[in-house]
Amino acid sequence: MKTTSLILGAASGLLAACGMSVLSDADRVNEALDYCDHQVHRTLGELRALEGGQTLDYTLMPRNIARDDTAWNLSPATPDEWCAGFWPGILWYDYEHTGDTLVRREAERYTASLGYLASRPAFDHDLGFLIFCSYGNGYRLTGNPAYKKVVLDAADTLATLYRPKVGALLSWPRNVEMFGGHNVIMDNMMNLEMLMWAAKNGGNPYLADIAVAHADKTMRHQFRPDYTSYHVAVYDTLTGQFVRGVTHQGYADGSMWARGQAWGIYGFTMMYRETRDTRYLEFARKITDAYLVRLPDDYVPYWDFDDPAIPQSPRDASAACVVASALTELCGYTRGDESLRYRSAAQKMLASLASPTYRCGAGKSAFLLHSVGNMPAHSEIDASIIYADYYYIEALTRWKKLLESEGE
Ligand code: GLY
Repeated sequence: MKTTSLILGAASGLLAACGMSVLSDADRVNEALDYCDHQVHRTLGELRALEGGQTLDYTLMPRNIARDDTAWNLSPATPDEWCAGFWPGILWYDYEHTGDTLVRREAERYTASLGYLASRPAFDHDLGFLIFCSYGNGYRLTGNPAYKKVVLDAADTLATLYRPKVGALLSWPRNVEMFGGHNVIMDNMMNLEMLMWAAKNGGNPYLADIAVAHADKTMRHQFRPDYTSYHVAVYDTLTGQFVRGVTHQGYADGSMWARGQAWGIYGFTMMYRETRDTRYLEFARKITDAYLVRLPDDYVPYWDFDDPAIPQSPRDASAACVVASALTELCGYTRGDESLRYRSAAQKMLASLASPTYRCGAGKSAFLLHSVGNMPAHSEIDASIIYADYYYIEALTRWKKLLESEGE
């Protein structure tokens, strides 16, 4: 591990240059997780105050804090609210770090608000985010068989969106007319994880076949020759033929929307973990390289890599969090210089996100500033957004485990 130490040493120099104290990697990750725990308790306190200090309303989830505000906007645990699983997921990760039984109790209560979604008709592919981030983490940490049943039911429900003619899940059933065909959004790659998990944990093995078919179709059509992605691929509903690639939340049809590429990097890395199919690993490397090579110096992307307003346009910290989490895995699936490059990139992302530029600190009770939800819809611009925080605490947890496995 000599070369690793050299790289880590170099990264410490970078952190020192960024004004951060020179601590060991393990100290830094623990400090960041402790910071998250502090913010979690602040948020719980604020939510309790909203209810007059009484019992929390466990059906209302923190969703965002607008740039010029300090209070969370809450959204209900409903099928069309794709972000409702992230707050329970954050509580589970915080419980994993602290062992705090109060946090666990709150995680259980918020999680319980989402269980009904598993066995009602799927609103869209976001069922995976809703259930796997909440119940999935809950099961991983507690082994509660009731949680497992919810995840298995949700995987069966998600699978109803699969269209064999196309060979992919229909991401947004409500938008077939709008896009003029079967739509697959890049974000959908994330929700294949619940299908893969279910197939390995007592669910129908067919769920894994669906996930593989969807990933293969996405790999074949949803990336341009330079390995940058379309947010949306549109397919003929009858023949399954690829019709066109377009954007929904990016700058233009041909641009690289940062979070879309991030979902792809995470999704194909996860598919390699779950299948050990080297096609996915090769692909994850290529789409990661297309992303890394165009990052600004602090490793946090602008919301869309092709926005002509760069460097005046906003960053998207959420994309950095998703990619940092993915790279803590990808560096373990690659070797030599390439592995060190991914590892060093993840480390730089986490160092930037821990800096005063991106931390909410005392000003707000979210973890991070500077994410963009939906620029074309003028929604959640330069805001604190709950999924940035979710993938941030996930990335830190993974990074901590990586260090522990190396004996640091
Ligand atoms: N899944 C929607 C988004 O990334 O904004």
